[in-house]
Amino acid sequence: MLEGQFPYTRLRRNRQFAWQRELVAENHLKISDLILPIFLTEGKNTRQKIDNLPDVFRFSIDLAIKQAKIAKDIGIPAIMLFPLVEQNKKTIDGKEAINSKNLICRAVTAIKKAVPEIGIICDVALDPYTTHGHDGVFCQKTNSVLNDETIEVLCKQSLVQAKAGCDIIAPSDMMDGRIMMIRDYLDQNGFQNVGIMSYAIKYASNFYGPFRSAVGSDKNLAKADKKDYQMDFRNAREAIREIALDIEEGADMIIIKPGMPYLDIIRSAKDNFNIPIIAYQVSGEFAMLKYAALNKAIDFNRAYLESLTAFKRAGATSIISYGALEISDLIKGC
Ligand code: PBG
Repeated sequence: MLEGQFPYTRLRRNRQFAWQRELVAENHLKISDLILPIFLTEGKNTRQKIDNLPDVFRFSIDLAIKQAKIAKDIGIPAIMLFPLVEQNKKTIDGKEAINSKNLICRAVTAIKKAVPEIGIICDVALDPYTTHGHDGVFCQKTNSVLNDETIEVLCKQSLVQAKAGCDIIAPSDMMDGRIMMIRDYLDQNGFQNVGIMSYAIKYASNFYGPFRSAVGSDKNLAKADKKDYQMDFRNAREAIREIALDIEEGADMIIIKPGMPYLDIIRSAKDNFNIPIIAYQVSGEFAMLKYAALNKAIDFNRAYLESLTAFKRAGATSIISYGALEISDLIKGC
């Protein structure tokens, strides 16, 4: 190397000006990368705050329609719906989940009619509907969720949601074999075109707290956990097996959840499988960003944009995030 030339390679050359950084940027967040979750509640013209989830609300169906319209107008391709089921409708078996006139089904039909251009994704699991807060049929004797019995109910839950007009079913229960059974059940009932976005990877995470208060499963669940069906956060190779099985069973897309602490899992999914990968930035992650910003530890907009872009860099195709509406102006400007 000639004298005076050190350092020969100067990576900072590419970072000097905004236009230059723009020219070499490897990943871009787009509004069409985002999925907006909407929490639902009974009533009219009702907007409720959610404990420990700043700036996120539950909406009655009429206001949820308005949210869906705003989302569509700014270019968000799809919404994901979650219900707060009234406590007196919760049972041990969660049978309200298969009532074709339940809150979620009424919301799907109403939103589909008012905003037909937006995709509607519905969660499939029993936790908003059960008195014990678990995702499936709970056996007190063994203190566990019964796998095959739960799948039977999930199939019926998927069907009522498909009949209501849901475009994509998203099973979040982590039972073994449910993707195959749900696919089969939907097909047999003439819903071949309803997609399955499987929560292939769902860790038994400590970041779901605000969501559980949003759907009111926190008090029902009390001190119980979901470790005997959701994945152990110490494991990564097992995630590959989960994804492989769900793809084999007929999943059209897979969800990885939580998001920010699991970017390694998103990357390995991207490297190993040719299927759309949806990252879920869950409620606890979103709350962390909000509370840190409220305490002035970070700038919310900048940190939020960075967190979502990191999902893209890790390999996510799209991202479910509670601030999808908030971020749209920022994306336009970046
Ligand atoms: C229901 C479900 C949960 C979430 C999405 N679907 C909670 C859980 O498994 O307890 C969490 C989402 C979030 O925290 O934002 N099975």
